[in-house]
Amino acid sequence: MPNTRSSWKSNLGFLLAAIGSAIGLGNVWRFSYMAHQYGGGAFLIPYLIALLVAGLPIMLLEYGLGHREKGSSPLTFARVDSRFEWLGWWMPVVAMFGIMLYYAVVIGWCINYLFYSFSLAWGTDTQAFFFSNFLQLSDSATHLGGLRIPIVFSTLAVWVLCWLVCFRDIRHGIEKASLIFMPVLFLITIVIVLWSVSLDGARDAIVNHYLHADWNKINLFAADAATRKAAGEVWAAAFGQIFFTLSLGFGIMITYASYLPERSDIAKNALITSVVNCLYSFTAGFAVFGIVGFMAHSQGVAFEAAIKGGPQLAFVVYPKAISLLPRMNSLFGILFFLMLVIAGLTSGVSLVEAFACSVTDKFDWSRRRVVTVLCIAGFLGSLIFTSRAGLYLLDITDHFITNYGLVAGGLLECVLAGWILKASVLRHHINRQGSAVPRLWDWLIRYTTPLMLLFLLYLSLSGDLDKNYGGYPTDQLILFGVGWMLICLVAALALAFGRWKPKKLKRRHRPEEDDLLT
Ligand code: PHE
Repeated sequence: MPNTRSSWKSNLGFLLAAIGSAIGLGNVWRFSYMAHQYGGGAFLIPYLIALLVAGLPIMLLEYGLGHREKGSSPLTFARVDSRFEWLGWWMPVVAMFGIMLYYAVVIGWCINYLFYSFSLAWGTDTQAFFFSNFLQLSDSATHLGGLRIPIVFSTLAVWVLCWLVCFRDIRHGIEKASLIFMPVLFLITIVIVLWSVSLDGARDAIVNHYLHADWNKINLFAADAATRKAAGEVWAAAFGQIFFTLSLGFGIMITYASYLPERSDIAKNALITSVVNCLYSFTAGFAVFGIVGFMAHSQGVAFEAAIKGGPQLAFVVYPKAISLLPRMNSLFGILFFLMLVIAGLTSGVSLVEAFACSVTDKFDWSRRRVVTVLCIAGFLGSLIFTSRAGLYLLDITDHFITNYGLVAGGLLECVLAGWILKASVLRHHINRQGSAVPRLWDWLIRYTTPLMLLFLLYLSLSGDLDKNYGGYPTDQLILFGVGWMLICLVAALALAFGRWKPKKLKRRHRPEEDDLLT
């Protein structure tokens, strides 16, 4: 078979796939909860700054690198500097085994809840239903307590769907799926948002809790130390969220951009992807605050008492609110969980794709075989998260992967592009394609963004050393958090060990860049 790389059929197809990866479960509940916890409207400031100084620059970097080197992250990094190949593996390994294994299970929960919506099966005590009936949560992370069969089946469905999409090459698989799924997702979201904001009590919650700004929570220069420290956490959370929500640091955007045709406006694509994703979160926030406001209003409780964090927002608060709706409850539930399933699936396939493409790039195995083996292995790996301790395990994994794995990946990526390849070379490449990226970007990639990320790592580390994350015992955090990351690191190093076919690493000659490189 000739060594031709598949490509997107249209720029729109690429954009929708990239936006599909970015828009995921995190946009709906992760963003809203953070906005609430970290100062309401004031949270938008660190969020926006994180978008400008880290999100957008790194999106440009990933698109630029992938497009320039035409490869998945290991191939791309190896072409720039072979000493960085392990980093190119670290990112998709973490995507596939650090995130996707549990992400698939959470999408699975959404499928279960989609079916529960038909009969509002969660009853009146949605909290007890979620923890005791549905998850049957055990008492500790080390007490697995057997698998939950309904969750095993829904998780299997998720992997089968991912397999169906990723099995085909990019333009017949992910591109086609995105062209169908994304418009449907946008449509459902609009319906849900309009529906939610029209409910009684929604307005009050949106104005007083979502858009209302508590400036103290983000004040890094506050007089007293405790406020400053808390504000530091908020800024760290905003940067972490930007990374997670834009799917950066996983090699996904590098891989997706590698399928772009020679002439593509990279800067414009990066801008559109980032802005659409963040606008989506902001819009979805209206739905979340609206419905929680409605619930608080109809139960006569304070907003603070009604809102909950993490998975509880989608699986405890929402079902409760759905049951309280005056009419068409089931329809609302079905639409809401369908929205989560679609948002999750389009992110899930990108996680699988990043890894599958890395493997096919290096080993020249057939895509179909790689994806099949990967999805079977993925399903088997997901099983641990379908156990009765699944919620604890995914909570710990998520914390370590997003706060350390991703951020460290992004940091090293900046070093590679900014210092080894040289930011100006990459900027030159990006600018040859269309919209011009200003010089300031070089500076951001070389200094500001990496320093911010380093600071972020420091904040996370000092927070974690200060007190055990989530109150879990130390041995569990080490086993499931640190241990998991070490396994990913060993896997990345092992994959980077083998040799590339010599012609693979040869880079095309780029006369236009010669003067910059000397
Ligand atoms: N960006 C997705 C979200 O916000 C999650 C995701 C993270 C997807 C990393 C792919 C990679 O939910």
